[in-house]
Amino acid sequence: MAEKRLLLERADSPEAEKLEVHMTRRKSILQVIQHRHLSASCRVFALRRKSVLALVVAFVFFYFLIGRPDWVNVLDLDALHADNFLPVHHQSTAVDGFLVYSNSCRIQEVDPYKPEVMRHFKRMKYTPCQKLPPLTQVKFDEKSQKYNLRIDGEASTKYPKGHQLHCCYMVVERINESEVNYTKCHVFKGSTELPNSAEGIIVKCTSNNVQIYINGHATVPVKEAVQQRLQAASEKDTQENVVDTGKEDAKTRPLSVLMLGIDSISRVNLIRAMPKTAQYLYDNDWFELAGYNKVDDNTFPNIMAVTTGYNLGNAHKACSPLKVGGLDKCRFIWKLYQEHGYVTAYAEDAVKINTFNYLKKGFVHPPTDYYLRPYLTAAEKLLDRTVVMGLPHCLGYETAAEHVYDYAMEFTRRYLNDTYFGFFWTNTHSHSDISQTSSMDDYMVEFLQKLVLQGTMENSIVVFFSDHGLRFGPTRVTWSGHLEERLPAIFFWLPEHLRKSHPEFVQALQVNKNRLTTPYDLHLTIKHILSLSGRVDYESLGPAPDCPQCQTLLRPVPLQRSCSDVSIADHWCTCWAYESVSSSSQEIRKLGKRVVTYLNTFVAEFRNGTYAKLCVPLSLHKIRSAFRAHPNALDPEDVKTYRLIFVTLPNNGWYEATVRHNRTDESVVVTGSVSRLNVYSGESECMKDFAAKKYCYCRQKKG
Ligand SMILES: *[C@@H]1O[C@H](CO)[C@@H](O)[C@H](O)[C@H]1NC(C)=O
Ligand SMILES: *[C@@H]1O[C@H](CO)[C@@H](O)[C@H](O)[C@H]1NC(C)=O
Ligand SMILES: *[C@@H]1O[C@H](CO)[C@@H](O)[C@H](O)[C@H]1NC(C)=O
Ligand SMILES: *[C@@H]1O[C@H](CO)[C@@H](O)[C@H](O)[C@H]1NC(C)=O
Ligand SMILES: *[C@@H]1O[C@H](CO)[C@@H](O)[C@H](O)[C@H]1NC(C)=O
Repeated sequence: MAEKRLLLERADSPEAEKLEVHMTRRKSILQVIQHRHLSASCRVFALRRKSVLALVVAFVFFYFLIGRPDWVNVLDLDALHADNFLPVHHQSTAVDGFLVYSNSCRIQEVDPYKPEVMRHFKRMKYTPCQKLPPLTQVKFDEKSQKYNLRIDGEASTKYPKGHQLHCCYMVVERINESEVNYTKCHVFKGSTELPNSAEGIIVKCTSNNVQIYINGHATVPVKEAVQQRLQAASEKDTQENVVDTGKEDAKTRPLSVLMLGIDSISRVNLIRAMPKTAQYLYDNDWFELAGYNKVDDNTFPNIMAVTTGYNLGNAHKACSPLKVGGLDKCRFIWKLYQEHGYVTAYAEDAVKINTFNYLKKGFVHPPTDYYLRPYLTAAEKLLDRTVVMGLPHCLGYETAAEHVYDYAMEFTRRYLNDTYFGFFWTNTHSHSDISQTSSMDDYMVEFLQKLVLQGTMENSIVVFFSDHGLRFGPTRVTWSGHLEERLPAIFFWLPEHLRKSHPEFVQALQVNKNRLTTPYDLHLTIKHILSLSGRVDYESLGPAPDCPQCQTLLRPVPLQRSCSDVSIADHWCTCWAYESVSSSSQEIRKLGKRVVTYLNTFVAEFRNGTYAKLCVPLSLHKIRSAFRAHPNALDPEDVKTYRLIFVTLPNNGWYEATVRHNRTDESVVVTGSVSRLNVYSGESECMKDFAAKKYCYCRQKKG
């Protein structure tokens, strides 16, 4: 039992790794490993005392010679059980072991099943939010062009029956980004037609004066202005392409765009946690970009790069997200689509942490024609709600994410025969750890299959993507976690007719699978797709302002592309291998201190010193590990690039920094920003800006 406790403590502690013990595991696992050419190495964390080392070695011998003792289960070696491994068959590498391989960039393939990560991964089951089916449904009626709300006769038999069922609905009205109001509760029996002014409703039912039901429905009602816009654009298309029309209408109609984003999913975590979804994408001719590298730390800057082409600094200058009305003036990609005759939608779950609202002011006016936020604000307030890892999970009869997916399904169905741009983003099943999203694997496959069945894939380009991998937590200190964080998943769908009419797009995407690509390229690709409508020239849509060398992904990206060519700072760049160096050398200590000084200065000077007095200055406690970039053709002789993982006091903050050290003049440049590897909630409430929050340990903390 002593060994057990010891090993458990060690497995949970983020001690640096020093000892690797090779172990054989069960047959099923071995098959997977052999299949994937993986070494069956099991890392065991370092222990300082030799006696403990000996114990570990003894354990391994015991394991080999006598067999697996029962209590090994407790050690979570069973996290490596076959249930957790669901192999995905795919060919993503350019050359053996590399996703991108050139003299300017070599991105290593990451093994999804490394023990250092698998020990924190547990496949999870989907559990429905309620036992009973929802009592009410909404459905768009083609004849009346209105939504009907009705009580589901079959479902109602399952609800407690009192003398009388009384139901009513309230329409959710948007006041501003954080406030909603409700109309009075309109009583209805059986079914009722909803007004077009209703984009989201809350329904309540009582039986014998006891509330037995509350639920919400979001709708995509007819909007006069949208109808007119779509019709005007389509008439103009017809006039300008007299020769083409009449034959195959669907093929001359401009392409729609559907963007389906899941927060914090690395390419590798998609394979590990959503193997069925990944396999579906690989098997159904979606195009993967295996070398898609994020450009900044968290969601906002990476999404701004996609939707505006700006980096964080310029997004703040051009779009003023901290000022009321700032983001309304910003040239978002959905605005361009709207200006060129498309209908637009945007939805995101977990309203508190929405991309444009978390520590930002959001929008004064809805940014798109259809906007789910007011409805979700109401749903989070009024519906039966559960919270998982700090984020809303169930909202009434479905999870928060399902509300977004339903909305995406309904929007794309309603505008199937028109031209749309839809941006749908979920945070709630993926933001907080690497395991939770596995519960949505089956759902996601079904969702994609439903899109196919309803015909969405026939005339839409679909982008299934993420912003980055998991940014914090126990896997982040590992090399896998480091690479995963920087390499989000991204897959493209092109409609068949586009593949036929533009085989060069297919070739380009096949080539670009193994090239270094960025969110700025995605930005330009979405502009390129808009130009395919013939309604606007690609050139006139302008470049990605903060990446002049980026380009559409429907043309081949140069093989010899380096991170600096495409505005990726060294800190975020996955192009180069690093080798471990001693973390106790004079030089490394010195660099570590310089970085901590840099952090303190950054916080002290942040916003003209607004926060200087609120945060405790940090001091260097320990350098956990240090790495030096393998020398490459791009680094000048006198400069070396280092990566440091270090801990500061008094906040016990774990950080990762990439610095360029000029040995001639001893100058040190911190590249990108310094990553925070462990969770800091509760310590930095006094700091209202993300950029400095991760370095601020508030003098006064909220309980
Ligand atoms: C929204 O409106 C409420 C009440 O009118 C107001 O207190 C709040 O400051 C407003 N919030 C935003 C983000 O404009
Ligand atoms: C909220 O709705 C009520 C009616 O349900 C209305 O009287 C009130 O003026 C509304 N408040 C705002 C701020 O719009
Ligand atoms: C789209 O067009 C198809 C074929 O003409 C038709 O069956 C379908 O009802 C239309 N869908 C919508 C939402 O208008
Ligand atoms: C910071 O201070 C300078 C000089 O006093 C001023 O010009 C600038 O507007 C200030 N910036 C902010 C963000 O307050
Ligand atoms: C390193 O510092 C020296 C002395 O200031 C300078 O001449 C050299 O250009 C620097 N190297 C780089 C790559 O910046």
